[in-house]
Amino acid sequence: MMQPGEFDRRTHDDGIEVWVTQMGPFMNMNTAFIDRKNGIVAIIDPFDSNRWVEALDEEGLKPTHLLYTHTHRDHTAGFQKMIRNDFGHDLEVWAHSEAVDPVWLRFDVFRPVHATHLWEHVTCTDVEWSAGSIQLTITHTPGHAPGHVTIHGHGVYHAGDLLFTSACGRDDLPGGDPLTLWRSIAHAKNQLIGMPSDWRLIPGHRYDWIDGTTPDWVSIGECLQHNYALNSPTLDAISSME
Ligand SMILES: [Fe+2]
Repeated sequence: MMQPGEFDRRTHDDGIEVWVTQMGPFMNMNTAFIDRKNGIVAIIDPFDSNRWVEALDEEGLKPTHLLYTHTHRDHTAGFQKMIRNDFGHDLEVWAHSEAVDPVWLRFDVFRPVHATHLWEHVTCTDVEWSAGSIQLTITHTPGHAPGHVTIHGHGVYHAGDLLFTSACGRDDLPGGDPLTLWRSIAHAKNQLIGMPSDWRLIPGHRYDWIDGTTPDWVSIGECLQHNYALNSPTLDAISSME
């Protein structure tokens, strides 16, 4: 189990580095994809920007892209400090258009980001995103929050607050919707079944696993087997409605 601000750094067999860390009082999980050859560092939901910048600087790296799963304030907590840095280049900031809709941002649970680029795909569809040799699939999975996306590639499925290791995200915050969440979970389950079972599922928060431990992540195979939402009879009911 990682300490706050500690980084797990490993290189996928395609040469892309994946750094994972846990930060903040809500144990937010952040993932970064790094393509050193092309100088690309894409960070998902950076919580503590100072810690990220410091750790990257030790390796001669700088952030180039920020990718947001959604705009709940704990996921966008690092945005303002991050953009105050002078990296010598513009940061690309990506979020789904529905995640930055002013209708929702007036609620206290949200904190806006100034997206330079928007994903605009409809619910339960994918778009491919790439920078340098980093290639990711962005899936629109609302229900926990408007414009929520999951992000996967290079050995990880970053679930945001759609799925935690053993549970799913809540649906009772502004912009949340139970039926939409279940549809997103059903779609995610189909995706996960098609992925290598040893890829890591990185949750948006590090919560308890089924045995009372608090792992930073579990494998996709473990998650498919034990996550209660992925094994809920509700999913069958949702599927039969589609
Ligand atoms: Fe959230």
